[in-house]
Amino acid sequence: MKIRKAVIPVAGLGTRFLPATKASPKEMLPLVDKPLIQYVVEEAKASGIEEIIIVTGRGKRAIEDHFDSSVELEYELFEKKRFDLLEEIKNISNMVTFAYTRQKKALGLGHAILCAEPIVGNEPFAVFLGDDIIDSRVPCMKQLIDVYEEYHGSVIAIQEVKQKETKSYGIIKPRKMKDRVYKVLDLVEKPEPTKAPSNLAVIGRYILSPEIFRVLKKTSPGKHGEIQLTDGLKTLLKEENIYGCEFSGVRYDAGDKLGFLKATVEFALKRKDLGKEFKKYLKQLDL
Ligand code: G1P
Repeated sequence: MKIRKAVIPVAGLGTRFLPATKASPKEMLPLVDKPLIQYVVEEAKASGIEEIIIVTGRGKRAIEDHFDSSVELEYELFEKKRFDLLEEIKNISNMVTFAYTRQKKALGLGHAILCAEPIVGNEPFAVFLGDDIIDSRVPCMKQLIDVYEEYHGSVIAIQEVKQKETKSYGIIKPRKMKDRVYKVLDLVEKPEPTKAPSNLAVIGRYILSPEIFRVLKKTSPGKHGEIQLTDGLKTLLKEENIYGCEFSGVRYDAGDKLGFLKATVEFALKRKDLGKEFKKYLKQLDL
């Protein structure tokens, strides 16, 4: 079955990025000149997703406005004959269909996914976590979809991390199927390095079977008192196969200050209009 819908949970408080996120959504922080969430939506679109369900919370209205049409702005740009910008601004709201639903309480990623059930319905769907920005030739989600089409099970994006970093990620116990594809035998949310079953970490892209909804409803709060998607997947594993796709591409943790800075520098250096000047500037810094 074609993967048509994607869920993007954005209700998190963004505490890692305070004070910037006190009154503005962290998903609207720009990498150069584009908000983080737009990179994610563009990846979804480029992977063939047709409908995006954004699970929002209080203080996140700017996201809806960003993907809405902006009549005044479009009129201004038209009057000023800025047709290139006009085209770009119109494209943002025309990319895909958007639906919004609210997560009333921050009860965890698993709970956020559950909030999307009435809109997703009974079909497999994609999940994107907005903190993970992935720069790759083939969009990361497209790589997952290819694995889904071959193996017909849920698929998780994975990447090797340093052993000491396992406590920041969901970690899988893998069995290799072929180059870059693993069968998930078990998974643990944020284990201490000594307890981690491998150093293959879950990155924020998933294709999930709709059975996950039934499972999440019965999942009790786990790490940090939250309903964890990883715990739900661990239960799902008893009934269905789950695969790990070791995607090719560079992943930035843009929800973290250092990760955000690294992404900003690298994205700016790649820009045709800024890259050359910016590189010159960085080189002359007396570091
Ligand atoms: C979430 C998931 C975790 C995953 C990570 C990827 O954690 O719970 O399993 O490895 O995203 O970014 P978070 O970073 O939201 O705490």
